[in-house]
Amino acid sequence: MTDVVSLLAQIKDTGRDPRGSGYLRPGFSRVERDLRAWFVAEAEARGLDVEVDHNGITWAWATPPGENAVVTGSHLDSVPGGGEFDGPLGVASALAAVDELTESGRLARAGRPLAIAVFPEEEGSRFGLSCLGSRLLTGAVGPKRALAMTDDRGDTFAEVLTRHGLDPERVGRDDERLSRIGSFLELHVEQGVGLINTDQPVAVGSSILGHGRWHVRFEGQGNHAGTTPMARRADPVVAAARTIGDIPTIVSRFDGAVATVGRTRVHPGGTNVIASAMDVWLDIRHPDDEVVQEVLEEIAARARDRASGAGYRNQEVTLTVDQESYSPTTHFHADFTRRLSALLPEAPAQSTGAGHDAAILAAHVPSAMLFVRNPTGVSHAAEEACEDDDARAGVRRLADALAMELGV
Ligand code: GLV
Ligand code: MN
Ligand code: MN
Ligand code: MN
Repeated sequence: MTDVVSLLAQIKDTGRDPRGSGYLRPGFSRVERDLRAWFVAEAEARGLDVEVDHNGITWAWATPPGENAVVTGSHLDSVPGGGEFDGPLGVASALAAVDELTESGRLARAGRPLAIAVFPEEEGSRFGLSCLGSRLLTGAVGPKRALAMTDDRGDTFAEVLTRHGLDPERVGRDDERLSRIGSFLELHVEQGVGLINTDQPVAVGSSILGHGRWHVRFEGQGNHAGTTPMARRADPVVAAARTIGDIPTIVSRFDGAVATVGRTRVHPGGTNVIASAMDVWLDIRHPDDEVVQEVLEEIAARARDRASGAGYRNQEVTLTVDQESYSPTTHFHADFTRRLSALLPEAPAQSTGAGHDAAILAAHVPSAMLFVRNPTGVSHAAEEACEDDDARAGVRRLADALAMELGV
């Protein structure tokens, strides 16, 4: 048996972000493939039966595959500059929990099948659509739209899948596989400060904020930085920057809302070039889906104002806003969550602003989450942390929760 801390140590050097701190582990990249190979080797070393489905989800069966399975797992991809634990903690903990169930003899008595699932491109950092694997599995995104998505290099998802030995023709909703999942439990590092001032290492997830991503494009007139007077420009960067600067004030009028621009791209991107276009990616979250829409509408209206104010005569800055993804507010399965809270009476219930595959699956199968304390409260950054003892406590609780579901 390998302890969860040692398991994580095995991948500590895989996929460090060469541009700075943290990790860069995009979905369907060489790095993610190396991490999957690590997972497969660890699963096979434990005698688990591994298969990769049409959507690139890796399944490792700890019992013979079957109906009404208890499934646990998470993801191995990361955001750019991501932390060590977002995703891998859930995968390593799943392996360690299987060890614990095996060694305690509980797995041998299990009344239901047990599997670990590793979902690809959970962060959506490569193709823009978060939880890509679970969305494909459940049909939350159709194959037509998914296959046409492109990454920053212009490669389509279809091309990337082919390079990974998967058949684009077979991608998409998989009712047979989905119907085998009786319940899904994802363990994840806590991504905020929720557990810092408690003496509890683990919380039971209650809900996830509604959240979406929009691609906002400002288009103007590319021109020469030295010869074009300031008054004769249609500069999309000015319009975009003014809009971004207005976002905190707009959002402050909506209690509990958060909005972020964490990624932009200037075209063509030269110091001495007035840009022809600027892309801005906008992330908005709130517990009420309607409020997310209201925040979006206000930001879009402001962007239109800022765009029209940045033009020159018939050289306009124009605006397009496209939704890339939306995940409605999710409440985890009431009965499953109640069972977890009864099993772990000290663990606080906790809502989160972060998205997870468990939320996509929750629309189809009873799903729940466990969060493990993060002493820095920072996530999606290198400072994300998890104490060794908390990680071990998470594994014990995960194993007990799986045992409860397995009826042992
Ligand atoms: C993913 O972790 C997200 O919440 O965006
Ligand atoms: Mn994440
Ligand atoms: Mn995650
Ligand atoms: Mn996530």
